[in-house]
Amino acid sequence: MNILVTGGAGYIGSHTCVALLEAGHSVIIADNLCNSKRETVEKIIDITNKEVTFYETDVTDEQAVSVIFNNNKIDGVIHFAGLKAVGESVDLPLTYYYNNIVSTMILTKACKKYGVNRFVFSSSATVYGENKVPFVESMGLLPTTNPYGETKAISERILTDIAKANPEFSVALLRYFNPVGAHESGLIGEVPNGIPNNLMPYVTQVAKGKLEKLRIFGNDYPTLDGTGVRDYIHVLDLAEGHVAALDNLKEGARVYNLGTGQGTSVLELLKAFEEANGIEVPYEIVERRPGDISSCYADALKAKIELGWEAKRDIIAMCRDAWGFEKNYKDFVEAK
Ligand code: NAD
Ligand code: WQD
Repeated sequence: MNILVTGGAGYIGSHTCVALLEAGHSVIIADNLCNSKRETVEKIIDITNKEVTFYETDVTDEQAVSVIFNNNKIDGVIHFAGLKAVGESVDLPLTYYYNNIVSTMILTKACKKYGVNRFVFSSSATVYGENKVPFVESMGLLPTTNPYGETKAISERILTDIAKANPEFSVALLRYFNPVGAHESGLIGEVPNGIPNNLMPYVTQVAKGKLEKLRIFGNDYPTLDGTGVRDYIHVLDLAEGHVAALDNLKEGARVYNLGTGQGTSVLELLKAFEEANGIEVPYEIVERRPGDISSCYADALKAKIELGWEAKRDIIAMCRDAWGFEKNYKDFVEAK
């Protein structure tokens, strides 16, 4: 199938493009490069030895999106394009609501106009709010603590209602937990803007000597060792989950957790990183980060039963591949 991948130059999108191409699909990428680099598209081509059509386009621009649908036979859309920094969303709510929700509406409007009936959406476990773990798709959602999380919950509702009104329109709402790691080639991976907010890129930058030490946000949570517990999932498993979702789309809007079902604490991740790479990461315990929850991990059964997909790679592989990318990555500051 010919798949339009919005945000396909980004972290998860680029890995999903590789998985799509390797599964025999063809790929059109629409990305405005606000949080990624054009060179990533070349790396997708290098890894797969397949061609990719690329549009440097803002998918909130209805005219520009129409050009893409007009000039290409599109069989399905995977919508990754979005802003995703939780803290930033608190400071810039309008930017986040506009970018993440208008893009979803523009794309679904184009799908309706051009008869495209397959739509996969990047949602987030954030929508569960402070529910009881493990998070299961059927549970009621609770308010998130930030505009970013709300853009995901609202987009899910919009897509669900559109699918209800148009039975031929099939939607998969994929709730990602904590994607980490990188392609084993070390050519593509996560490139945070500035100082990383997320744990794994912060750890790899400490390991590389770019940052002095990791600050662990609290060790007084009600968890095994007091540090926060999350469901880390290898980005390649996540990418393969998208191919499975695309291939198993059914009538209506269906929600799937894409997680391992396994919780890992911050200290456990550091131990795994040291085991995988032989590098001890210096850290200090500091106060909790506002808005953090104690534990977040998936009930991963529904995707296994309905999509025939489950995560295969363990935390050691995640740490090995995350470090593999960081080691290779020539960041221009360093290159000077
Ligand atoms: P990313 O920032 O690496 O990728 C997003 C891509 O979208 C970037 O290349 C950016 O340039 C592009 N983009 C943003 N707004 C756009 C617009 N208006 N038009 C065109 N392109 C636009 O982020 P990611 O980690 O790959 O996340 C991809 C998706 O998955 C996002 O929707 C994010 O909210 C969601 N998600 C990410 C995580 C995570 O931890 N990384 C977890 C859950 C959900
Ligand atoms: C993981 C754990 C921190 C950094 C975020 C977004 C979520 C989704 C995934 C988009 C927590 C601890 C972290 C550090 C630390 N993104 N930590 N020191 O917060 O679970 O989820 O990314 O959808 O929406 O909220 O991920 O990697 O920031 O934190 O101790 O420097 O690591 O307290 O327990 P999080 P994270």
